[in-house]
Formats: sequence, C-alpha cells, structure tokens
Amino acid sequence: MFPKEIYWQRRKLLRELVGEGLILFPGNEESAMNYKDNTFHYRQDSSFLYFFGIGKPGFHGICDVDGGKDTLYGDDLTLEDIIWMGTQPSVTEMASEVAVESTKGLGALEGELKKALDSGRRVHILPPYRGDQVIRLAGMLGTDCEGVQEYVSRELIAAVVQLRSVKDQYEIAEIEKAVDVAGIMHTTAMKMGFPGNFEHELSGAIEGIALSHGGPVAFPVILSMDGQTLHNHYHGNELIEGRLVICDAGAETEMCYASDITRTFPVGGKFSTRQKEIYELVLKANVESIAASVPGRTNREVHLAAARIIAGGLKELGLMKGDVDEAVAAGAHALFFPHGLGHMMGLDVHDMEGLGENNVGYTDTLKRSDQFGLAYLRMGRQLETGFVMTIEPGCYFIPALISKWKGEKKFEQFINYSRAESYMGFGGVRIEDDIVITSNGSRVLGTPIPKTIEEVEETMRG
Ligand code: GLY
Ligand code: MN
Ligand code: MN
Repeated sequence: MFPKEIYWQRRKLLRELVGEGLILFPGNEESAMNYKDNTFHYRQDSSFLYFFGIGKPGFHGICDVDGGKDTLYGDDLTLEDIIWMGTQPSVTEMASEVAVESTKGLGALEGELKKALDSGRRVHILPPYRGDQVIRLAGMLGTDCEGVQEYVSRELIAAVVQLRSVKDQYEIAEIEKAVDVAGIMHTTAMKMGFPGNFEHELSGAIEGIALSHGGPVAFPVILSMDGQTLHNHYHGNELIEGRLVICDAGAETEMCYASDITRTFPVGGKFSTRQKEIYELVLKANVESIAASVPGRTNREVHLAAARIIAGGLKELGLMKGDVDEAVAAGAHALFFPHGLGHMMGLDVHDMEGLGENNVGYTDTLKRSDQFGLAYLRMGRQLETGFVMTIEPGCYFIPALISKWKGEKKFEQFINYSRAESYMGFGGVRIEDDIVITSNGSRVLGTPIPKTIEEVEETMRG
C-alpha cells in the first residue's frame, strides 16, 4: 500500500471536487466461476483501490462530503472464516492503514443510505459494471436494477477522472514495476519463437511469469501469428518459419497497476525483407509518436501524425498512393491501421474505461470522431503532465477488410488493392510502449525492452 496520507489526500480532494452529498464506493465481491466457492481470480474495483486501498472482498466505502469524513464498512472475520481463509487484520486496522478513522459493520450501510436519502441528500455512485453489484446497489438504495442508474453521478465521474488521470511518483514506480515484468514476459516469448512451439506454450509461459512476480496478467494475453486479428486470444497454432508473431501482454502488480506492451517478432528469429519494411514503418510511428507526446498537444494530433507516417511509408512501398494528408483526412489509412494510437493506463489497463471512454478521453469541446479507424481512438484529448499513456501504432493486412473495401471500390484513389492483396497472410505488426507525460515531453516507462530489428533478432539469437 502507499503511505496512508496519500489515500487521505485523494479522498479530501474528491470531496472538494464533488461538493455535496454522500459518495458510495462499493467494493467488488468474489465472483463464482462454476459454483460459489470456486471463484474467478479476485480483482478489487480500481476506484475503490484508489481511494480506500483495500484489495479484498467484503468492503464498501463512503465519503461524506457534507460531514467531511470517510467511513469504511466491513465485518471482521468469524472463527469459521478464519478456519478456512486464515486470519487477516481487523476492519479498524485496515482502515487505519488508509487513514480512515470511522468504521462500521456492513449491516449499517443500508440504514445510513436510507437516512441520507430520506433527508434529501444526494448519493453519488460510479457506473456499476457487474451484475451482482447492480443487484446489491438496488437493495441498498431501495430501488430496482434500472433505478440504480439514477444514482450514477456525472460530478463524481468527472472528479474521479480528474484525480486518477494524473499519476503521482508512487503510481509511476508501480507501473514501472509492471513494465519490467512485461519486459521479461516479452523477451521470453521472443526466445521461444521458433518453429514447432505452439502459441499456447509461449502465452502460457509468459502468463506464468506474471504470476511468478506476484500478480496476474493485466489482461488476457494476445499472442498470435494471425496478428491481423487485433485482439487474438486463440493460441492453438504451431509456429511456422517465416510468419510474424504479435505478442501484446502486460502484468499487474500486487497493487493492481498495469503494463501493456506489444512486440512483434519473426518465427525463427530473422525478419524477411518484406517484414522489415513494414516493421521499420511501425517502429518509426512508435518512436516519433513518443517524441510528439508532450503536454498541451492533443492525443488526437499525435494519432493523426502517426497515421500520416504509416500512410507515407505505405505509399513508398506502393500500397498507398495519392496525397498522404488527404488520404489520412479521409480515413483511407485505416485499412492498414484501423485502431487508435493508445489509451490511458494505470489501475486499469484501459484506465477508467468503466467510467465511460468518452468521459476519460474526450471533452465537451473535443468529441470522438465517427470515422472508421479514428472512432477507435480511446483518448483524444490534450495530454497533461503525469498522464500515463500507451503508444501502439500498428500495420495489418486484414483479408476481410481488404476484400470488402476493394469490392466497394473504396478510396481507390489512395489504395493499391492489387498490391495490398499480395500481403494477405502477412498478419500484422504492432509495437506498444507505456509512457508518462513529463513537464516538457515524455518518458518511456521501465527498463527498455528489445524493440529495433537488431535488438529483437539479437534477443532471439540469445
Ligand atoms: N492490450 C490491449 C491494448 O493494447 O489495448
Ligand atoms: Mn496492448
Ligand atoms: Mn494498449
């Protein structure tokens, strides 16, 4: 856990930003997999972790804005719990670790909320994202499941986004730990990237590395020779010489901070000329986008600059044609780079996505585009010092998309379809790093992970 004053300060700022009422943070409960006692990996809610720090089920937190105090609701373990689960600190002890002075049993919560609502006070909640959470909230708030939505508070969402967006030195140190574990995961995958191994041998080995460092993976491992499928979770192929593998994987630290790294490597350890050409192009977009990520610039501008690098390179390779700026403005590059340049990262790998992507990545004046490709950019708004972002340009040859656009004669002035068709079976290249925006630029987090063609080939030789 971070020093207790951090949690106290976060809650104080939150109360000031929200202004009035009660803020309710329901902690996550265990989630049954196939029967009640056989559960999925437990994950605490990220906002609960941010403000109350306790990574265990059975807790709720209330920040009483009008009364200027916070209360942790939870029950001490029974003897039966201790027999099966072991001992754990008392609720009061845990509360004191995060500088919460008041504790109450869970049974008191419903009455407190009812009292507040009966006296006309507002209860603020964040958007719930688990079914059991909605049902519990409905019970606590004396409403039905649909009625819960009325308590979702725009003021609270805005305040939480404002606070969680800027990472402090402790959070950045945690994220760097997660990136360093990801570095071991990625170099391990590269070293295993030889014909005869199956994708699941690589994905299983790297998931085990995350676990052996104390946390699970930050999201299900994406590892595939069919990298043209952007989030490919199928790991059943045997590696074939000459194909590329996209590996998009990250670790979660014990404090639940994420990393999200992608590397692309050639099965067998040597890039072909064609693979090198596309790889260098994506690498250029990655490196230049990192350099372009500075406070005050919008991430949308950085994304579009990356798109121009990809389109310009594809023009040199004869895959695109015409004016590069016009092609990108029209969205023609999205045939090859259909996703966004990156997203915020922190306690969630797509940080705060549960609070609404547009609430995190867009503003009243900068709205999300509905153009294919640009519409997938999760974060468009201006970068600020302390934001942690991913930078993940890519270039893919997606047969279904190429065939569809060709059939529609879409952007024929910008795309050389016969040449694009000759890349069917290539897969894709994505290169993803995690950065922090500094006061005058940006910095790649963690120990460098092999990224250039020479570094990747050297790692695979090793
Ligand atoms: N790991 C999923 C992503 O890069 O957004
Ligand atoms: Mn990723
Ligand atoms: Mn990512």
